[in-house]
Amino acid sequence: MDQQKSVKQRHTKNRHKDDQHGAPLVDGSSRHSLKKSKTSTKASSSWKQSVLQGLCLSVVFFFLASYIITDTWLWGYKGKYTNLRYWFPPKELVFTQKELSQYDGSDPTKNIYLAIKGEVFDVTAGRPYYSKGGGYGFFSGKDASRAYTTGCFQTHLTHDLRGLTAQQLADIDGWANFYRNHQKYFKVGTVILDPIDPASPIPEDCRQPVAPKPSS
Ligand code: HEM
Repeated sequence: MDQQKSVKQRHTKNRHKDDQHGAPLVDGSSRHSLKKSKTSTKASSSWKQSVLQGLCLSVVFFFLASYIITDTWLWGYKGKYTNLRYWFPPKELVFTQKELSQYDGSDPTKNIYLAIKGEVFDVTAGRPYYSKGGGYGFFSGKDASRAYTTGCFQTHLTHDLRGLTAQQLADIDGWANFYRNHQKYFKVGTVILDPIDPASPIPEDCRQPVAPKPSS
């Protein structure tokens, strides 16, 4: 009887031992494979950690190298993407020509706006250029699209684009892009332009035609 009991006890003991070392679990897996999957989860998380560390280091390296080589943090990039207003644009305004004329740079307490082909831009950051008496102050407070391509800053300070060539129109678009993509200027809205009377004469060009080079 005693012998029978001790055999039974030994069997029970062995069963416990087996449970701890690779005995099949209810779902058919073993403790061994559980340990294995824990190890692989650990490995994948440490792999993710090193990728993340690598990325962080690359970002730091990107900015540091740029600063050391170009003296700027973004490899000399100066454009709209560094302007917070590009990412958080203010609500666009609609101006009449009269309203726009109040932002012509004559009042140092007001912003300076100008328009190209109906798009209004805030150029306050360029006050030295656009204030009254500044090198390009004649562009402020109005849509003077025509003068951007003809360079006639007296009679062409108008949105009248009649008679311009395709190239000249493209030049004006180029200037609009200059303001759109500028690091410090930004679009504030649009201006409602008075329609051009088709019966009115096309504004005369104020520039002196260049005399043809005399042939030798
Ligand atoms: C069609 C004729 C021209 C137009 C429409 C024009 C227009 C402009 C505009 C809109 C700016 C940008 C100012 C800003 O940064 O906000 C500018 C800059 C400038 N322009 Fe003109 N311009 C013309 C001709 C000239 C000429 C002939 C000269 C040289 C004698 C000149 C010299 C300059 C200079 C030095 C700057 C400043 C550049 C800078 O520091 O970024 N421009 N121009």
